[in-house]
Amino acid sequence: MLNTINKNAKTLDRFLKYYFNQQGHSELIAPMKYGVLFGGKKIRSTVILNTSEIFNLKKKDVINACGAVECIHSYSLIHDDLPCMDNDRLRRGKPASHIKFGESTAILSGNSLLTIAFEMIAEKNYNIHTNKKIVLLKKLAECVGHSGIAGGQFLDLSYEKRKVSISKIVEMQKKKTGKLFEFCCLAPAIIAGANNKTKREMCFIGEQLGLLFQIIDDFLDIKGTKKDVGKQVKKDKKKGKSTIVDLLGYNKTLEFAFKLKKTIIKKLKKYGKRSDKLIRTVNFITDRSY
Ligand code: IPE
Ligand code: IPE
Ligand code: MG
Ligand code: MG
Ligand code: MG
Repeated sequence: MLNTINKNAKTLDRFLKYYFNQQGHSELIAPMKYGVLFGGKKIRSTVILNTSEIFNLKKKDVINACGAVECIHSYSLIHDDLPCMDNDRLRRGKPASHIKFGESTAILSGNSLLTIAFEMIAEKNYNIHTNKKIVLLKKLAECVGHSGIAGGQFLDLSYEKRKVSISKIVEMQKKKTGKLFEFCCLAPAIIAGANNKTKREMCFIGEQLGLLFQIIDDFLDIKGTKKDVGKQVKKDKKKGKSTIVDLLGYNKTLEFAFKLKKTIIKKLKKYGKRSDKLIRTVNFITDRSY
């Protein structure tokens, strides 16, 4: 499994490097590359690649969507680490972008990673039908803006040091992390021209998978090591973050995560052998130590 993850990460790094090298000269390219290249699990694009097997797509059909999602994810981390947000200095085993380049450059390179993602999908030589590109662009914007990552990050910060109900935490986590995973499972269905019922199902699977991913991230903040996760650990409690594990405790949260995983896998099994790789990734997400 680890080999597959590493292999996909390398494929994405190659694609992104090639894409950045095509850009005209700009001082922001170096901090953009620092933010997205050669680091991170690239798990979201692995989810796209795995899901594309369910729909019999080829890598070239989804690679631009993979690149876009990784740029957006990295943008969200650069901003997440800023002093006005989580105020973290270590990311992927290296200094966070604002430590390395200063705050203004971190903000601007984050903005640029966000916008270049939309360019990647609109790209002329990304060979999928224009109508499908428009649907992808709209869906991606929804998953990233006020109803997705940005909205979830807003809630995450406003719930600090407050007693918040489980349903509110779940809603916040679905937005800040779930929505981008939702896009990852939906994008191949859109590209393949799947029917509405299937698209709805992929949205559901993706959102649940994102929620599961965030719960495990919250676990790793407690149980993981700095060396494995490449970021500071035991920081959520200090900041008073509202997480499911903080509210329910370790064992009940494990049960919650296990139920989520079971629901996701049950839905995926319907697709037979074509969903085997995605199921393996769901297991990796649950059992990971980084
Ligand atoms: C960390 O995401 C932030 C969350 C949404 C939980 P990842 O764990 O995917 O971070 P990288 O890309 O592998 O560094
Ligand atoms: C980040 O969640 C979610 C984003 C959408 C950026 P966290 O704040 O828990 O991520 P880490 O632990 O800093 O990677
Ligand atoms: Mg955060
Ligand atoms: Mg953080
Ligand atoms: Mg975290």
